[in-house]
Amino acid sequence: MDASNKSKTATLTVGNKNYDFPVKSGTVGPDVIDISSLYNQAGVFTYDPGFMATASCESKITYIDGDAGILRYRGYPIEQIAEGGDFLETCYLLLYGELPTKAQKEDFDRRVTMHTMVHEQMARFFQGFRRDAHPMAVMVASVGALAAFYHDSTDINDPHQRMVASMRMIAKVPTLAAMAYKYTIGQPFMYPKNSLDYASNFMHMCFAVPCEEYKVNPVLARALDRIFILHADHEQNASTSTVRGAGSSGANPFACIAAGIACLWGPAHGGANEAALQMLSEIGSVDNIPEFIKEVKDKNSRVKLMGFGHRVYKNYDPRAKLMQKTCHEVLKETGHQNDPVLKVAMELEKIALSDEYFISRKLYPNVDFYSGITLKALGFPTSMFTVLFAVARTVGWISQWSEMINEPNYKIARPRQLYTGQAERQYVQLDKRK
Ligand code: ACO
Repeated sequence: MDASNKSKTATLTVGNKNYDFPVKSGTVGPDVIDISSLYNQAGVFTYDPGFMATASCESKITYIDGDAGILRYRGYPIEQIAEGGDFLETCYLLLYGELPTKAQKEDFDRRVTMHTMVHEQMARFFQGFRRDAHPMAVMVASVGALAAFYHDSTDINDPHQRMVASMRMIAKVPTLAAMAYKYTIGQPFMYPKNSLDYASNFMHMCFAVPCEEYKVNPVLARALDRIFILHADHEQNASTSTVRGAGSSGANPFACIAAGIACLWGPAHGGANEAALQMLSEIGSVDNIPEFIKEVKDKNSRVKLMGFGHRVYKNYDPRAKLMQKTCHEVLKETGHQNDPVLKVAMELEKIALSDEYFISRKLYPNVDFYSGITLKALGFPTSMFTVLFAVARTVGWISQWSEMINEPNYKIARPRQLYTGQAERQYVQLDKRK
C-alpha cells in the first residue's frame, strides 16, 4: 500500500487491482486513511482487533500524543488546566469547547449545583442491594436506573435537552457514588450541600454524618478536584468507545453512561490504581525493591510493575507528574509525608526510570502509580477508587456522546468480522444425531 501524503490518497492493491482512498488530516496527529468505501470497491474488510491502528471517529475534544507525553483538552495542555482551573470549568470546556467567561462559569456552576439531588425514590432503590455489593456494581445499576426517571424528557436530537441530560449526569453521578459508599458502610445518605463546591460537596456526602459538623479541608478538596480534572477525558479509550457504541443506536444517555461505567470497572482500565497501591504495600520497604525489580524482569514470573506502562503513552504520562505533586500535597496535609508506601513509590520510580529494562521498553509511570496512595490518604477505601474515576470521567463520556449525536451523518457502530467458524452444513434432526 502506498500512502502518499502529498496527493492525500492511499493506494491499496488487492489481487491485481489498485484502489485509491482519501487520506484525511487532523489539526495535529497522524493522518488517517478513509477506507469506508473499501468493501463496496474491493469486497474485503480490514482487520484490526483492539483498534491498534484504527480511528473509530472524528473528534474535537481531547488530543493525546503518547510519544511526546502530551494530553490536551480542547487544545489546552492538561498541566495548565490542572494548575489554573477547576473541575467544573473543565466540564464546561469539554462540553462547550471553550473556556467560560466569569459569568458563564457562575451560571454553569449554579446549574450543576441545582441538579445534585436525586429522586427520593432512588434511596429506596438502593435498599435492594446487598450491603457488601461492590460500589461499581451499584454504580452501573443506579446510573442505569436514572434512565427510568428521565426517559420521556430526554429527546437526544434536541441540543438543549442533551445539555440538560449532561448537567444532570455531571451533578447526580457524585451523589450516587457517595450513596454507594455510604450504603456499604451502613451510614445514612448525606444530601448534597449547595453552598459547597463540587469536590467539597462530594467529600461532604462521603465523609459527613448527620450527628456532627463536618468541615471540608480545602487542601484536600482542591487535591480531589485536581484528580477529577486529570481523569475527565482521555479520547477514545475503552469506556468512552463503549459509551459511543451504546449511544450510536440512539439509546438513552443515562443507560449509555452505565455501559461506560461497566467497561471502566475492568482491571485493565480503571482498576489499576488499586493494584499499584497493593503492590507498593506488599513491597513494604525500600530494601525489598531490588528483589522485586528482579522478579518483574524475570520473563517467567508474570509480575508487572503496576502503575507503569501505557498503551498510548510511551513517555512520562503527563497526568502522572501532576498526580505525584498532588500526592505530596495530600500526604503533607494529612501528616503522612513519611508514609513508607510513598517512600517505596519514590524509590521504585527512581530505580525503574534508570533501569535498562524499563528504558528500552519505554515504560514510564502512568496516572495510577500515585493515585492509589493519594486516594487512600484522602480517606477513600480501595473499592471506591474506580468509582471516583467514574465520577470524573462522566463529563468525558457525555461530551463524546453529545459530539457523536451532533454529527449530521453519525451511524450505528457496527464492526465487521473475520469469520472462522463452520461454513454451511445441513441441520440433522435430533433422533438422527449420533
Ligand atoms: N511492568 C513490567 N513490564 C512491563 C510492564 C510493566 N508494568 N508493562 C509492559 N511491560 C513489558 C511487557 O512485558 C513487554 O515486554 P517484552 O517486550 O519483553 O515482551 C513490553 O513491556 C511491552 O508491553 P505490552 O504489554 O505489549 O504493552 P501494552 O502497551 O500492550 O500494555 C499496559 C500497556 C497494559 C498498560 C501495560 O503496560 C501494563 O500492564 N501495565 C501495568 C498495569 C497498569 O498500570 N495499567 C494502567 C494503565 S493507565 C490507565 O488505564 C488509566
